[in-house]
Formats: sequence, C-alpha cells, structure tokens
Amino acid sequence: MIKIATVFGTRPEILKLSSLMPLLDKSFDHVMVHTNQHYSYNLDKVFFDQLKLRKPNFNLNVGSGTHAEQASKVMERLEKILLEQEPDVVIVNGDTNSTMAAGITAAKLKIPLVHSEAGPRAFNKRIAEEINRIIVDHCSDILLAPHTVAYDNLLNEGIPKENICLVGDPIVSCALRARKMGQNSSIMKQLDIKRHEYVLVTVHHAEITNDIKILKEVIEAINDISKIIKIVFPMHPRTGKFLKSNNITLNKSIKVIEPQGYLEFINLLDNSLFVMSDSGGIQSESVALNVPCLILRPLTEWILYIKAGKNMLIGDNHDSIVSKVKDLLSDDYNIKKMRSTKFHMIKDSDERAINILKNRFK
Ligand code: UD1
Repeated sequence: MIKIATVFGTRPEILKLSSLMPLLDKSFDHVMVHTNQHYSYNLDKVFFDQLKLRKPNFNLNVGSGTHAEQASKVMERLEKILLEQEPDVVIVNGDTNSTMAAGITAAKLKIPLVHSEAGPRAFNKRIAEEINRIIVDHCSDILLAPHTVAYDNLLNEGIPKENICLVGDPIVSCALRARKMGQNSSIMKQLDIKRHEYVLVTVHHAEITNDIKILKEVIEAINDISKIIKIVFPMHPRTGKFLKSNNITLNKSIKVIEPQGYLEFINLLDNSLFVMSDSGGIQSESVALNVPCLILRPLTEWILYIKAGKNMLIGDNHDSIVSKVKDLLSDDYNIKKMRSTKFHMIKDSDERAINILKNRFK
C-alpha cells in the first residue's frame, strides 16, 4: 500500500487539509505530522475537536520563533521522521514556514512532493508567504491549483503542464460543511449581535502587524468605522501582542474576542454584513458564503474574486479604508450586488485530489 505523509503546522493548514486527511486514511497508509508551529487551543486543538480529526502520528513541537528558527526546527525534526517512516509521497498545503520547510525536506530526500494550494501569487517577494509558496511550488512534483489564475501562474513560471492539476480551493468544502455544522451556534447570542448588523474584522499578516505605521493606520480606520457600524474583531495573538507593545488601542464599542473555533467563526462570517480582513482563506470562504470581503491590503493573490465583483481591495491606509467602506455603506444596492453576483466555485477539490493521487501513485 502506498504510504503518504501529510505535514502541517498552523490553523489554515489544518482547516484546508481537514476534508482530505480522512479520505487519505481510507485509501492509503497515511501518516499525519504536526509541526506545532501553532500550538494553543484556539489556533490548533479546537479544529481537531470540531472537525473530528484524528490525532497526528507525530508532533514536532516547533512552536513560535523567527522564520529561520521555525524552518530549521521543522527540517531537522521532520527529516528524522521521513527517514524512519519512508513515505512514498509527502503532501503539504499553503504558504507557511511549516509548509516551506517540510517541502524542502521532502524534496531533498527525493520523496515525491504534492503541494495543495499551489500557484497563488501576489508578485511581491517581500511577503514571507510569497517566498514560501514559490519555493514549495518549484520543489513539487504534483501541484494542486486552487483556481485558474494560480494554474496560469505556474505555467508562466515554467512548471510542466502535466504536473499541474486544477482541483479547486480546499477551504470551500470546509466552509460549507462548517456552515451546516455550526448553524445552531450560540455565538451571535453571546455577543448580542444580529444578522447583517455588524462587520467582522480580522488582521494578522506580518505586512500589517510588523509595520507600526501601517498597523496604526489600519486600527485608526477600524476605530472610525466602528462609529458607523458595529464591529466584531476576533484577535489573533500576533496582532494582540503588537497592539499592546505599541500602546495602540481599539474603541471600547468594538467587540474584541479571542480567536474563535471554526464553527463559530463561519457562523459569524455568514451572518455579517461584510468582512474586512487581510487573510487569504477568508477571501475564498466569503465568496463561498456570498459575503463581501473587503481586503485590508494593497494587493491579493486571489485577484479573480475582485475581477468577478465578489470582493474588493481597500488598501492598508486610513483614508482609503474609510472612504471605500463609507462608499459601500452609502447605498444598500452596493452590498446586495456583491452578494448576488454569481461565481462558480469547485466544491469537490478533495475528491479530485484523491483521484489524482490514486492515478499517479499505484
Ligand atoms: C502563520 C503563517 C501565516 C498564516 C497564519 C495563520 C508563516 C510565515 N505565517 O502566521 O501564513 O496565515 O500562521 O494564523 O508561517 N502564537 C500563539 N499561539 C499559537 C500560535 C502562535 O500565541 O498557537 C503567537 C506566537 O507567540 C507568535 C505569533 O503568534 O509570536 C505568531 O506565530 P507564527 O507561528 O509566526 O504564525 P502566524 O503569525 O500565525
């Protein structure tokens, strides 16, 4: 039987692999390796509980640190496991330090590498995730593209066509499943909020949190918007730390809450009027749920949703964010139009990935 090792380490990787991993258990000898780049209950274990995932076979206990510290710990510890386990294939997802380090380790051991969510590009190598994506894509033997733009990016970078497979974005089926599972969640009641009466906000990317000027602009804009409409803000630990250490405060009326479980988060997203975020995954989830996503960045790797009129880039400076939000809120039609615009999303990316693996590794 073909032996497959899946390596993951953070919240988005766990979510995006959550539907694929049980299918791998059924069809292959499957080993799960958690790097533990994310380790707290809110960013890690809650997803195993809610999505009924089995325990990983190995934990690398990497934790937080600089990019080089995280990557080197993953490489050193994963290499031992791969040498001992001798998998026929390694699968990684996305763009984190865990993804990049695991990808290089497998490639150097000449183990065929599959990259799920291959090909999105912001065309800016100052973004840590962009570097990670490019490295893993160019080490991979099978590249599972989440959308047509990602597919074309890979072709343009000279990756052989036969190695690229368009399977769709794995977060789509995950979000739709979570909407059903979490429909009776009490989170809205607990927060005393009603459908379409609030905006959901998340901020955690280093491009914002690690630049005090940008962080201040974004937070000031969020404070100003909170004077017009209710805001719910699940706070990533990275953002919480930077706000505290730079004495940047949020208006009292903003409901700042802990990072949420997936069912609660999707319930909050589904019921929001719109979401403002710098996250990649939320951009796809909001299209799947027909919730407009206003992206707190000057660029995005998921440009096709902007072109389709489902999402909108609002930048990372105060004036641009506030004026675009005010424009949007000035006429009910604007939000209705973004919601009702049709956009086709592939919903069976995991089944497609399994079929590709079965065909390629017999
Ligand atoms: C990482 C990924 C990013 C992904 C994000 C999702 C990289 C380069 N970045 O950023 O692509 O979108 O995960 O969250 O890999 N922390 C906790 N508890 C945890 C994990 C982290 O408190 O469970 C704190 C740590 O103290 C650390 C900070 O959050 O200082 C940042 O952790 P890090 O591992 O760099 O990841 P993220 O910022 O979350």
